[in-house]
Amino acid sequence: MFLGLDIGTGGTRAVLVSPAGELVASASAEHESFRSPEPGWAEQDPHDWWRAAQQAIRETLAQVPGVKIDAVGLTGQMHGAVMLSKDGSVLRPSLIWCDQRTQPQCDWLHEQFGGGEAGREKLIELTANPALPNFTLTKLLWVRDHEPEIFARIAHVLCPKDYVRFRMTGTYAIDVQEASGTLLLDVAHRRWSSEVARVAGIPESWLPEVFESPEVCAHISAEAAQLLGIPQGTPVVAGAGDQGAGAVGMGILEPGSVSATIGTSGVVFAATAAPTRDPRGRLHTFCHAVPGRWHVMGVTQAAGLSLRWFRDTFSPCVDYNDFTTGAANIPAGSEGLLWTPYLLGERTPHLDPEARAAFVGIHANHTRDHFVRAVMEGVAYSLRDTFTLFAELGIPVKGVRLGGGGARGKLWRQIQADIYNHTVDVLTAEEGGAFGAALLAGVGAGAWANLDEACKAGIHVAQQIPPQPAAVERYERAYKAFRAVYPALKNIHA
Ligand code: XUL
Repeated sequence: MFLGLDIGTGGTRAVLVSPAGELVASASAEHESFRSPEPGWAEQDPHDWWRAAQQAIRETLAQVPGVKIDAVGLTGQMHGAVMLSKDGSVLRPSLIWCDQRTQPQCDWLHEQFGGGEAGREKLIELTANPALPNFTLTKLLWVRDHEPEIFARIAHVLCPKDYVRFRMTGTYAIDVQEASGTLLLDVAHRRWSSEVARVAGIPESWLPEVFESPEVCAHISAEAAQLLGIPQGTPVVAGAGDQGAGAVGMGILEPGSVSATIGTSGVVFAATAAPTRDPRGRLHTFCHAVPGRWHVMGVTQAAGLSLRWFRDTFSPCVDYNDFTTGAANIPAGSEGLLWTPYLLGERTPHLDPEARAAFVGIHANHTRDHFVRAVMEGVAYSLRDTFTLFAELGIPVKGVRLGGGGARGKLWRQIQADIYNHTVDVLTAEEGGAFGAALLAGVGAGAWANLDEACKAGIHVAQQIPPQPAAVERYERAYKAFRAVYPALKNIHA
């Protein structure tokens, strides 16, 4: 059996997957919520991830007494900076992916590479991406600028799941997909960029060894074996960040296959044969968890979060199903009501941490159901922005699979098919990143020859939903109006 472990933001999930690709057992353990000592900051304690990982693993294994684990695969929230001393102790809480404090460090980095547009272009040439506050390097630079005494003691830098691996195995390691989100990787050549590390003043000795995602890179230590109930010496594969492993778990391997996932954030992800860069850096270009492939993705910061925020703020205690039922009776386009989902600033396509959300076009006839539908549509328009960029950059879209909460309800599935104007596939089970990490472990252990074989065993399409022509036409017009909202409101701040 293969164990997949997903160190998320809200909690850690463990799954057991059989050599037939079936999910056999799973358990989750919550994390403490992230701390926000100042607006826009987000920090978590790495020890809490390790505690939750132990709990989730033990509870999963307890469901199948005597089970033999052949290999372990890890995934998790990307980009977080875990800073460790020489002896591997955590030096400060991790600045995690959604921490937005590092714009000055992004500007500094672009300055070092030539300033303004030229600096951004140079960084895109070296790492395939511009400096964004989400990326790990900018978080290290913030610590350099504000906590020099901590910076001086750093000996190792890891991402969240790689810290958990370190506790499981004693090994400092990272995979190419995760490493792409640090801004320190030469994404085209799948190795650290000595030039970026040198210019940024980051010693390369701080960086863990880089592996391809299905490669075995470490083994369970004697100490962790006691704590976890997994035998000492069990192989651990490199794994991937949540987006890379999630794509594996949805079978997004071939160039042309695309997923649209609405979780807390929303991601449109396409596998590519080469590192296709957006010269303006609006899409992330990363190594894929599939050796020899890359991927691009656009990120909507507040996707599922938009609907949760709206429900929690205006109709607390109402069940999601009851909350969204009435929206199905509202016509496509919500009779002119628009939502731009920039509750947490926005990545794709605006790259603007200061962007703010808005309802536009409110009329006295609009009901709560109109607002609910408008929120669901606004999230899908924002994901459509990534499809628009794919078209602009010539990235093929041959099939679209839906994932996350946005794939579960009938209404949001149809809204997505209509707004993307693509037939969308829904999978029989959408097990997310932990499942993908277990498939990576299975390939590492030799149970499947490669990821194609693993996905053939474990992933099946349950339903295909075609777009409805009348709704597509209505949404084409509404999408044009949606695109006009951000530039019109950009400079309005109260
Ligand atoms: C990817 C990203 C999120 C986080 C949190 O770029 O920021 O997917 O990994 O889940």
